[in-house]
Amino acid sequence: MIPEAQNRLLTQTGAGTPMGELLRRYWWPIAGVTEFDAIATKPLRLLGEDLVLYKDLSGTFGLVDRHCPHRRADLSYGYVEECGLRCNYHGWLYDETGQCIAQPYEDMAHPEVNLKARISIKSYPVSAHAGLLWAYLGPHPAPLVPNWEFFGWQNGFRQIVTAEIPCNWLQCQENSIDPVHFEWMHSNWSVRLGGQNGPYSPAHRKVDFNEFEYGFQYKRIRADTDEFDPMWTIGRICLWPAALYTGEHCEWRVPIDDENTLSVTWHFCRVPRDRDPYVQESIPTWHGPIKDRATGRWISSHVMNQDFIAWVGQGTIADRTKENLGASDRGIALIRRRLLADLEALRDGRDPKAIVRDASVNERIDLPIAKREVLVDGLSRAEYMTHPLTKPVVAGYPFQTGQPDEIRRAFLVAIGVNDAAPAAPGE
Ligand code: FES
Ligand SMILES: [Fe+2]
Repeated sequence: MIPEAQNRLLTQTGAGTPMGELLRRYWWPIAGVTEFDAIATKPLRLLGEDLVLYKDLSGTFGLVDRHCPHRRADLSYGYVEECGLRCNYHGWLYDETGQCIAQPYEDMAHPEVNLKARISIKSYPVSAHAGLLWAYLGPHPAPLVPNWEFFGWQNGFRQIVTAEIPCNWLQCQENSIDPVHFEWMHSNWSVRLGGQNGPYSPAHRKVDFNEFEYGFQYKRIRADTDEFDPMWTIGRICLWPAALYTGEHCEWRVPIDDENTLSVTWHFCRVPRDRDPYVQESIPTWHGPIKDRATGRWISSHVMNQDFIAWVGQGTIADRTKENLGASDRGIALIRRRLLADLEALRDGRDPKAIVRDASVNERIDLPIAKREVLVDGLSRAEYMTHPLTKPVVAGYPFQTGQPDEIRRAFLVAIGVNDAAPAAPGE
């Protein structure tokens, strides 16, 4: 339980709020690069700001205010030129720095006034990395987009999956350091959703949490494991400030505003070794639904959809004055304390946790990762079909519902399974 004022402090995302300023110190993944194969502009909201992400005809990405500074038209309906985004109302044109570079009528009628030199639109830097587009809304100099080691892994089929979740980002992120929920929300609930009353999963016996430079590790021993198990010696990662890294995928909880979160998953699936060398030309991106249109209820069939149900169920902004934390929640208390310490760091003029500015460090940032032999080195084809980490993915993408058929087919081709295979049931 925390006081109401602290709950408010921790959950605000807007410019000028302490947490809004802290969150602006980090790069955020906001879209997949391949989304722009089919579109040129995308309206989006990030940290409470209405923006337009665009790719101009020369391939440069820009992120600018949603509204044109001339007479406020919606620039997500603008069209891109060789350089920049043109407003569809009177044709004013802006480059990726926000500078107005053309005002067709003014330029013709009063070139001597050069009004455009005095006009600029709010803009933010965009960086393409690992198939994701990243945005930075903070003060300059901007830090580097962290180059996590998994972004460089070879011989894998990668995909990017998004979903919009109507609740505050922090309760989503608190799920990134919550080992016990896996037993009840995923394992046992899935048994019950499947119409069985059991058996239930081996129970958690011990959990532990420890902080490292780029986040926290959470560790578990279940009734069927011991202290030599990699889920205890290494565990999983709550990646700072707003992601869960499980080994084969990373899930960011990107604050749209105080009441909405964009879930962005970057998923890597090592292909069987006999498929090496496998090169994926580009990383597909898809958007998954979260609500069952027929019933109006949240979808519960896939792992992350189950998580989403927990998050939205806590309320639009979870009321932490009414919670009762136990021993299993020690990690949650740790990340709240770290955020409060980061706010102090900011007040003192220091960088908060996990800001990367050193290019030599950023050549590759290694993380404590369990089961590297499967994730990186790969399995034979025979092992692949039965290993607990890969078997579910062969049967169908297990994390979110709604994977498009063409991505499913491309994945099956990549791993060497018949490309005519149908989508898994329920997808
Ligand atoms: S409102 Fe955008 S050019 Fe006029
Ligand atoms: Fe979960």
